Amino acid sequence: MTDIPEPPPTDLAAEVRRLRELLAPAGRLAEFGRFAAQQIHELRQPLFAIKGLAQLLLEKDHVELEEVLDFARHIVEQSERLGALVATLRQLSVPAQTAAKARAEIGPVLVRVTSLLDFRLRKTGAILRTRVAPDLPPVAATPAVIEQILINLLANALDAVKGSTPPLVQVRARLQAENPRFAIIEVADNGLGIAKTLRPRLFESFFTTKGDEQGTGLGLAVSRELARGAGGELALLDDAPGWPEPANTVFRLTLPVSQEL
Ligand SMILES: Nc1ncnc2c1ncn2[C@@H]1O[C@H](COP(=O)(O)OP(=O)(O)OP(=O)(O)O)[C@@H](O)[C@H]1O
Ligand SMILES: [Mg+2]
Repeated sequence: MTDIPEPPPTDLAAEVRRLRELLAPAGRLAEFGRFAAQQIHELRQPLFAIKGLAQLLLEKDHVELEEVLDFARHIVEQSERLGALVATLRQLSVPAQTAAKARAEIGPVLVRVTSLLDFRLRKTGAILRTRVAPDLPPVAATPAVIEQILINLLANALDAVKGSTPPLVQVRARLQAENPRFAIIEVADNGLGIAKTLRPRLFESFFTTKGDEQGTGLGLAVSRELARGAGGELALLDDAPGWPEPANTVFRLTLPVSQEL
């Protein structure tokens, strides 16, 4: 199937900057502005994917039925992702209640995330290897939240491996050996790595090295907030021993194991 076009350049980054300057002195209002910008960031990806798919289809002179069905399947998937993001937003009004009951199996979440990133994987030609330990129990977070975090981490990894041969991204999930009440999900890539001087700033909102058109610098900030909201953590590892294939950058997501039977 044809590649999806890049999202057109938007004024999002400029808009975010304007919003930030406007709200900076306003205390709690600034918090809300930041939150709104984060949500825009998350909703933007599936929205552009849907638009791109429909546009590609409209531009074709001739289409086979199989191709139309393939497009339709991808559009449904991206719409479901939008729906899941909206559902996560709605849950914010009842966080404690839903968080206690949240439960997700990592394997199926990874299958879905891989499918949602199908276009980007094809475009970059990156190899994605996933490994989930067979004894890994469900974790205490909603599938939508884990999806959101993994998509942000994998999107960064796919940007990072553009110049690598072969571009390689690995994901592995297992129980934490020292404290089996937590699960660990790690995303590793064989890109150039991250300079020591940049490391302390990575999780700051609006910190990006990708330029205004390419990144808003919210992916990691949003993801860490989501991880902590679920009682977990998201961190960049200092070094990465023990990977079967080259891993230059590794992010570790830690989530509590579900206590629900
Ligand atoms: N896997 C990685 N390899 C190298 N650098 C990375 C990696 N992940 C993140 N970074 C660095 O951290 C910065 C912040 O990442 P973050 O995801 O928060 O924002 P972004 O990717 O720049 O923009 P956005 O995610 O909002 O589109 C990136 O601009 C990049 O410099
Ligand atoms: Mg990012």
